[in-house]
Amino acid sequence: MTTRTRILTGITTTGTPHLGNYAGAIRPAILASQDTNADSFYFLADYHALIKCDDPLRIQRSRMEIAATWLAGGLDVNRVTFYRQSDIPEIPELTWLLTCVAAKGLLNRAHAYKASVDKNLENGEDPDAGITMGLYSYPVLMAADILMFNAHKVPVGRDQIQHVEMARDIGQRFNHLFGNGKEFFTMPQALIEESVATLPGLDGRKMSKSYDNTIPLFTSAKDMKDAISRIVTDSRAPGEAKDPDNSHLFTLYQAFATKTQEEQLRGELLQGLGWGEAKSRLFQLLDDQLGEARERYHQLMSRPSDMEDLLQIGARKARAVAAPFLAELREAVGLRSFVNQAAVAASTKKKAAKAARFVSFREDDGSFRFRLLAADGEQLLLSRNFADGKAAGAVTKQLQSGEALDVRSEALGFSVWLQGAVVADSPAFADSAARDTAIEALRVALTPLED
Ligand code: TRP
Repeated sequence: MTTRTRILTGITTTGTPHLGNYAGAIRPAILASQDTNADSFYFLADYHALIKCDDPLRIQRSRMEIAATWLAGGLDVNRVTFYRQSDIPEIPELTWLLTCVAAKGLLNRAHAYKASVDKNLENGEDPDAGITMGLYSYPVLMAADILMFNAHKVPVGRDQIQHVEMARDIGQRFNHLFGNGKEFFTMPQALIEESVATLPGLDGRKMSKSYDNTIPLFTSAKDMKDAISRIVTDSRAPGEAKDPDNSHLFTLYQAFATKTQEEQLRGELLQGLGWGEAKSRLFQLLDDQLGEARERYHQLMSRPSDMEDLLQIGARKARAVAAPFLAELREAVGLRSFVNQAAVAASTKKKAAKAARFVSFREDDGSFRFRLLAADGEQLLLSRNFADGKAAGAVTKQLQSGEALDVRSEALGFSVWLQGAVVADSPAFADSAARDTAIEALRVALTPLED
């Protein structure tokens, strides 16, 4: 039984990380990965990138830039499993197994797909114009990413919460259909970092590539400085008091400053520090904090084969988890070798038998009874009362002897007979089908192991 938390998140490789991505996702994820009670799985979601982008050069560049950003930012690959989604062939295979149980109606409700349909309708086009199966199935691929590693926590932006919920839905359905009482998949939870404020961009709206208001992260000091000089401020002149709490320049500063640094700048702005000067303070702060990482970033980018090696190691680590798990899932759905059928049946039986157990207890009146519990703890039988422990023990022994069981169904239950007398009864079942399933489970549980 593991109590370690598995944290998993993917980054779609279509762009170059900016300061907002760093503060909002990369930095918190790197910090979370340092928790010794957590196992982190971070990956480049490059299959997802193909859904949005058909420019091979951009895909390739973005994968490298994002890998270098995370590594330069201090991600410790010895501690986390850092890999490219496309290096794990088990993921698309699991995607198919999940596709076969995912309800189409569920995917019809996905926000991203619905938004595209709505846009088409608005423009008077066919509802599905330009919509690929990739976009439509996007949540199933994401479910495979998450369920493959049985992630507990999935740090994502708000726009991804629905996808994590869909992963739960699809995983639950698979568990229900093929688990036989076993939960193959852990139910993941979206983790929204409330404490991490979204950084404002140059114009004060959320920093985002789509608003073209970003501050570059590692490209160069000059690019960063140039962007900072374009931060929009009010028109108060040097010497006039500024309101730090209504300045997104100050918000940006806060996201990287210590409390002391923050209070210092606040005081100075209140006393009339000029915006130009405030901008150089912000640049200085960012350069102090990110300058070394920027160096590392450029080193990494200039030695792609080093990164390739690290990612290959990551892929091997991830596949060490994914491959045996997928083998189990293939088995569960019936994709099995023709050769080992008997062995599989026997081992299933063996597991069931091994896991079923007798539990004896004493009633207040001093008589002895026992229960037979199935692997999942469900009660299969409750015995009648015996005068002493020895008599009860003899019955449990005989039940496990392999002799044909005398089971007699009656209405919504059944009883077990030995030498013409009832020795134990089943609980009441909802219907006769449930009763018959339980009788089958009982027979399996009481079949002696042949090995
Ligand atoms: N769809 C996510 C995004 O665009 C990226 C992603 C792909 C992801 N697979 C994932 C995130 C699995 C978390 C878990 O942000």
